[in-house]
Amino acid sequence: MSDDFFAGKFPRGWFGVLFSEELKVGQVKSLRYFDKELVAFRGENGAVAILDAFCPHLGAHLGDGKCEGNSIVCPFHAWKFSQSGQCVDVPYAKRIPLKAQQGALRTYHVREINQIVHLWFDVEGGGPTWEVPVDDSMNDDLNWSKWYFKRWRVRTQGKEIIENLVDTPHFTYVHGSPIEEITVDFNGHVASQTSVIGGHATLGDKLVTRATYFGPGVQHVTMNGTYASAQVNIHTPIDTEHVDVCYGIKIQRDPTLADTDDIAREYARFAHEAFDQDVVIWQRKIYRPAPLLCDGDGPLFQLRHWYRQFFSETDAAQSIAK
Ligand code: FES
Ligand SMILES: [Fe+2]
Repeated sequence: MSDDFFAGKFPRGWFGVLFSEELKVGQVKSLRYFDKELVAFRGENGAVAILDAFCPHLGAHLGDGKCEGNSIVCPFHAWKFSQSGQCVDVPYAKRIPLKAQQGALRTYHVREINQIVHLWFDVEGGGPTWEVPVDDSMNDDLNWSKWYFKRWRVRTQGKEIIENLVDTPHFTYVHGSPIEEITVDFNGHVASQTSVIGGHATLGDKLVTRATYFGPGVQHVTMNGTYASAQVNIHTPIDTEHVDVCYGIKIQRDPTLADTDDIAREYARFAHEAFDQDVVIWQRKIYRPAPLLCDGDGPLFQLRHWYRQFFSETDAAQSIAK
């Protein structure tokens, strides 16, 4: 048996799965997260629904289906499902089977905020117990640039990514930006880091950042470097060995600058390059459940203790719940 408490499990919480712009009205997208095939679609009412992808009839993948009104139509025999997973039409049947009418497809809680589609995952099937806060700058394309984001598929797990929050020395040796001041705070499902970083080659001479995790998979960052920026780090397990890591950045518009979007695109490229440096490490590292630490390391065990709250203590082969 592994001495790694987190091995083979998925945490409970909100996870960012799409930027709003990636799913237009009438669009259907296949998603694969938490070892599950999922389908997302945006109805003509503007709402996003996320459902289990396999049709309850004969198992076709609804990601190959099409959106009609506020429903999704299976590509195989055209059964139609509502945003809440109920079958609302079987075009060649006199009666829709009762079981299908009652909701044959599992649906997920969705919150589209900050121009990001968030999905709530709880392996035990529980509903949301907190919300990701709405951030005004993230919703505002008038005074802020649009989102510039990049997604990596990394052979790692969320437990590795969150450790960046407290890993003070890696800023020097991976990013070339020594931390001058740092405070870390854990409060319920929220973990925050406020830091002053003594300069980065491309992001600014002095960076003042506040990075806050709202649960295990959504991190908001404000960074004042060369520009004021709002950033998100959203990472979502694909399976127990791979994570979709997505980093988005927006910068505040400055009327004295010619084209904020061009600047934002470039600034995001620098931020993504900095993130690439972490990705290289995550891809190949192993997880040490009992690491050998020194007095210059950050509060790693506190962080792991905080992270543990998002996992069921009744270990019972969580990952099997499909
Ligand atoms: S498999 Fe979906 S309608 Fe038959
Ligand atoms: Fe890092």
